[in-house]
Amino acid sequence: MKKYYEKVKGTLDFYPPRSILFKNVADKAGKLFKTFGYEEIILPVLEETGVFIKSVGQTSDIVRKQIFKIESKNIILRPEGTAQVVRFYIEKAIYRQRDFHKFFYIGPMFRGERPQKGRLRQFHHIGCEVFGSQSPYLDMEVIKLAMLILESCGVEKITLKLNSLGCEKDKKNFKNFLIRELEGSKEKLCLVCKGRVLTNPLRVLDCKHQSCKRVVSGLNLTKNNLCDSCRAHFEKVLSLLKKFNIPYDYDPTLVRGLDYYSNTVFEFVSSELGAKDACGAGGRYNDLVKNLGGPEIPAIGFALGVERMMLLIKEAPQVSTAKVFVAYTPRDIYPQAYKVLNSLRENGIPSDISYNDRPLKRQLRLAQKLGVDFTVIVGEEELKDGCLILRNMRESTQNKVKLDDLVAVLKENLC
Ligand code: HAM
Repeated sequence: MKKYYEKVKGTLDFYPPRSILFKNVADKAGKLFKTFGYEEIILPVLEETGVFIKSVGQTSDIVRKQIFKIESKNIILRPEGTAQVVRFYIEKAIYRQRDFHKFFYIGPMFRGERPQKGRLRQFHHIGCEVFGSQSPYLDMEVIKLAMLILESCGVEKITLKLNSLGCEKDKKNFKNFLIRELEGSKEKLCLVCKGRVLTNPLRVLDCKHQSCKRVVSGLNLTKNNLCDSCRAHFEKVLSLLKKFNIPYDYDPTLVRGLDYYSNTVFEFVSSELGAKDACGAGGRYNDLVKNLGGPEIPAIGFALGVERMMLLIKEAPQVSTAKVFVAYTPRDIYPQAYKVLNSLRENGIPSDISYNDRPLKRQLRLAQKLGVDFTVIVGEEELKDGCLILRNMRESTQNKVKLDDLVAVLKENLC
């Protein structure tokens, strides 16, 4: 029998400094989204199963293998945000307010994966979805924004991989082209891909098996698979990326594992992440609003995987604890010491005290462990003169301060 409970496999506990890093990443992303005119939305973790089956796709890995279902109810823990935001957009008829909307979200997602490094059952997305424009400027801007978030959070050495799947008709033609080409080399494909040739041939393109990679490298994949209008859109996106100094790798094998994508698709990858190398991804989904029962409205978005970003951030965050510790001696002076603490907090000075009855030496040791800048020592003798001792913990110096001046002195000396 277990002596204590452990966390569920594939989940993470966030505590300092990791919880601080998580918050920093979310804050920096939120600030950048707002600079680019996005509004924050907070949607439920529970959604109806159909929302994802109809959008992510019946044959996608997410729907086939990774859904966390609430038994006996047609409800699942959301595996991603895009389909959900579209559900919300249609249900609330947001498109009636104006023809253009930009939303961002930060929250947990759930996929029943076999856990490994960078592959969790509960993870977090920082994502955005934009509705109402086909402009290639928007494709460029969305990609640039994702890059800026990654950079501002200290995620380095990221490669942007980019492709275009074209419109619905292009995707159909491309699928047929792949079925024709892959049928001939079926014997050389891995067991999973043999089964995918007819059901989901696009997924053969991003299979990691060497044998499949060899077959794929022999295929003639070019932008010529796209119709004139989709090719022109993609060429314009590529030229805008160049114009705005966003380096990219055109990768015609990039297809993404979710069915709703059309036209531009992209991924941010890092070799440091190992097999699961994407720390973010996105693309256009011009038909999804219509396919989920809404009007014909083009859209684009991306989601960054916060835990994978955190694996790539080298700099440790500053652990911000209370800045001032209030110590006291003797023990019966505690009520006066607590009053001092209270007045510091009322004046917005982050401060703390020991709730357990400890000798002064141990209180000072605790202050050191907490990493505070100053310790205020409330002593009986000093208090008689309306004074306290203020100890600078960084410089190991101390001096007497008038009780009435304490807040002002601390405010002046705390950065
Ligand atoms: P996705 O590629 O499935 O796209 O997920 C985006 C990112 O989430 C991945 O690049 C990865 O960093 C992270 N991620 C995915 N699965 C896991 C996992 N099991 N453990 C840890 N991190 C994971 C989407 O979900 C789309 N909704 C993105 C999008 C938004 N497209 C348009 N708008």
